[in-house]
Amino acid sequence: MGNAKILLDEKEYELPTVVGSEDEVGIDISKFRAQSRAITLDSGYGNTGSCQSAITFINGEKGILRYRGYPIEQLAKQASFSEVCYLLIYGELPGGQQLEEFNRGLTYHSMLHEDMKKLFEGYPPTAHPMAILSSMVTSLATYYPHAHLEDRLDVNIMRLIAKAPTIAALSYKKAIGQPFIYPRNDMSYTENFLHMMFAVPAEPYTVNPVVERALNLLLILHADHEQNCSTSTVRMVGSSHANLYVSIAAGISALWGPLHGGANQKVIEMLKMIHADGDNYQKYVDKAKDKSSGFRLMGFGHRVYKNFDPRARILKEAADAVLDQLGVDEPLLEIARNLEKVALEDEFFIERRLYPNVDFYSGIIYSAMGIPTKMFTVMFALGRLPGWISQWKEMREDPKTKINRPRQIYTGATERAYVSIDDR
Ligand code: CMC
Repeated sequence: MGNAKILLDEKEYELPTVVGSEDEVGIDISKFRAQSRAITLDSGYGNTGSCQSAITFINGEKGILRYRGYPIEQLAKQASFSEVCYLLIYGELPGGQQLEEFNRGLTYHSMLHEDMKKLFEGYPPTAHPMAILSSMVTSLATYYPHAHLEDRLDVNIMRLIAKAPTIAALSYKKAIGQPFIYPRNDMSYTENFLHMMFAVPAEPYTVNPVVERALNLLLILHADHEQNCSTSTVRMVGSSHANLYVSIAAGISALWGPLHGGANQKVIEMLKMIHADGDNYQKYVDKAKDKSSGFRLMGFGHRVYKNFDPRARILKEAADAVLDQLGVDEPLLEIARNLEKVALEDEFFIERRLYPNVDFYSGIIYSAMGIPTKMFTVMFALGRLPGWISQWKEMREDPKTKINRPRQIYTGATERAYVSIDDR
């Protein structure tokens, strides 16, 4: 691919191009300002590449999502979440012994320092578990102060993945006033999480394999999604050489927003509202079309996917199967299907290429698994953890990484003299 040319104020500038392994083309504008004094303006970064990355490939037109080259459909069907963690972070699928060691690490690092329990005690029972997760992940940096050292990175990666489900489950137990359940070394990552969430000291708890499989699937589907809002946040914070824990905690906060990972909670709340309003789908589709209402169909639309979200396709199918296998009769599933049908036939949604995204059906499955609504975004965060970690690691290991520092076009007042308080 040849150079690109920009004609600005009758002067021509040549800019080099970069071509990715899937033929994606970028124009390298990194030296453009120095030559021309002009910057490129792209609010929301819809057309700006912030890095070169070998982790995840998305083709939004064709609905393709691949981690390290492996199609999401194959990983969803055949892989375990811990395999996917290893794949994302270290670049290749683990061999038998590597996976065994990785799984053992995830098990043996799953306990929290006992002192951390005191931190949980300070939160009100109504505390949102995303706030707890973010602050507890930041707190891990105080227990593992050498997280910034390169030769300690692998063990801290392990700690973070292993301890996050423990933090998540403890925040739930705290909210419902039940005693904390400790992780067990004879359980897998997914079994352990369900055990810590749902076991009570008074009786034995057996993990339902249907629930465990559904959890594995959901975690894999959320594991990475290239340079989205939370991942870019993680990279940006990490670009200042902030340690792994605090960089990830920032990503957790970014994920919480209802336009990002917080949408899964909002979808269920919306479906319940529609149900309580007599299942009047059309009313809510009309409301979403009316910009003055401020209402959006949650779980619809995506910055990148413009024909379908492959994760939503997998989850729509899985929702049927999981509810069926668990014997759960969930009226919200029917409402979701009908709402999808009405919206997909509507000109407004067709024109704007708005389709259900990953969050549209995930909440229905979480509910059937017994996960409370407030925990939905935490589930997303547990899944996204290996993605954030791999992107952080790639950013730190890339010699081209500089501290992230975008520019702006200033639109405020030009220079003026200070006016003393008596003269204002
Ligand atoms: N309901 C109604 N209208 C919508 C919706 C929606 N869910 N999403 C986008 N639009 C309209 C929007 O009003 C705009 O219309 P117009 O061109 O007439 O001004 C047009 O579609 C383009 O929207 P946009 O906000 O410019 O698109 P974006 O790429 O900036 O936003 C989005 C993407 C996901 C934030 C947005 O579609 C949205 O708010 N969806 C609902 C929240 C949601 O489900 N978020 C989860 C995203 S997937 C999980 C994740 O990875 O975070």
